[in-house]
Parts: sequence; structure tokens; C-alpha cells
Amino acid sequence: MSGIDLAVIGGTGVYALARLEDVETHVVETRYGAPSGPVRVGRLGGRRVAFLARHGEGHSVPPHLVNYRANLAALQLLGATRVLALNTVGGITERFGPRVLACPDQLIDYTWGRISTLCEGEPWIDSGGEVLHVDFGEPYSRSLRQAVLAAARAAGVDLVEGGCYAATQGPRLETRAEIARLRRDGCDLVGMTGMPEAGLARELGLEYACLAVVANWAAGAGPDPDEVITLQDVLDNVAAASAGLADLIGAV
Ligand code: HPA
Repeated sequence: MSGIDLAVIGGTGVYALARLEDVETHVVETRYGAPSGPVRVGRLGGRRVAFLARHGEGHSVPPHLVNYRANLAALQLLGATRVLALNTVGGITERFGPRVLACPDQLIDYTWGRISTLCEGEPWIDSGGEVLHVDFGEPYSRSLRQAVLAAARAAGVDLVEGGCYAATQGPRLETRAEIARLRRDGCDLVGMTGMPEAGLARELGLEYACLAVVANWAAGAGPDPDEVITLQDVLDNVAAASAGLADLIGAV
């Protein structure tokens, strides 16, 4: 298949790409197994764009069980070289309140027990077992981030530039003490899916950037320290941020 200009991975609350036209559906099997669901490929703003729902279109795959390798490999098999990851997150520091869109430039990985490298299992052994030690000092693609920031300016969408994403294991949300620790570590945002996805994208040679949608104040981080976070709040805030999201993706 001929090239795809941009692949988008949708997170919690984003199960389809608004304004995608002439959509073809691809059910792809990869050397790492099956992705979370079909890849939808269509036209957006005159470009070919692929979309994959990270948790499945019915949100049936929890963050620690997503086959991140298969998802990225499926997009690459279809011809994608640039992947924009939408990640629904909690906000920790002042600039990252609910409904904010952000393009972080750093991350810290607190996940455990996930397959976090291509250097594991049969596909790796069968392909000769070369050990990869990719550079990851700058975990997101500089050029794709610049494209996202420029697109936000062009589309008049407010976007916070930079910030550090904490990837936690989930699927439960964090304790207040855990969020206080993440703040001390220098994290601004917290989500459950940023890793191993970003690291695997680097191993696969994909350009990869994160567009974070803040759905709630992380535990104890907002003005009401006793606030209880509900899934409904998360979904409502992601829905509210979605118009800006669609404009921004169209401009990227
Ligand atoms: N913590 C972790 N992941 C999340 C959150 C959160 O508060 N909100 C949305 N995804």
C-alpha cells in the first residue's frame, strides 16, 4: 500500500477520528500478533491518515495488556512513518488542568511487567536476535513535535508546549502520595499508556510524538484535594477537548 502521511493512535475516549473520509478498514496481523483492532485509513485535509484505537474501539483492552508492539507494527506495515499518539492523562502541575491539550517533551517510565522492547520473544530470535540500545534521551521526535506545535498555532488551538509525562502501570488511578512523588520527580502529566509505546516506536524507527489530553486533575493535584475522579468526568473532559483535537490533527 502506498504511504500514509500520519498515523494516529487514539486513547481513552477517542475511538474514531472525526472528519476522516473515504475510510478503508484494514485487519492486520503482525509478527507480534494482532493489534487492538482494525486500522481505519482515510483522507483528512487532503492527506492519507491512519487511525487505530489503542484500547480497541469498544475500550476492551486495559493499558497493561495492550499489544503495543503489534499496534505500532501494524501501522508501519500499512506504510506509516509518523505516529501521533493521543494519550488521555491526569494533570499534576499548574499548567495542565482538565481539558488542556499538551505536547510533552520528556517522560519517566514507572510501568512494569510489560513487553517493552522488540528484543524479546520469537520474532526477535527468528530475526537474528540483534540487541537494540536505541538513544532515548529525547523520547519524542523533534520534527513531529515541531509539526504539532506549528499546526496548533496555524489552527488557533491552545496547546501547552513541553512537560514531562509519567507512565504508570494502572489500570487503577494513583494515590495522592504517588502523585506527590511524581511531582517531586518533575512530572507534569500522568497516564498509563505512554510507555512502552514511545520506546518501541523508537526501536521500530518510527517518528513518534504525544498529544496529551488532560481529563482530570491527578489525585490530590487540583484545587479540591478530596476530589474523587470518575470515568464519567474523564470521558466528559475528553469529549469537551475533542473539537480542538480534531482541528489540530487536521492541521498536522
Ligand atoms: N492517572 C493516570 N492515568 C490517567 C489519569 C490519571 O489521573 N487520568 C486519565 N488517565
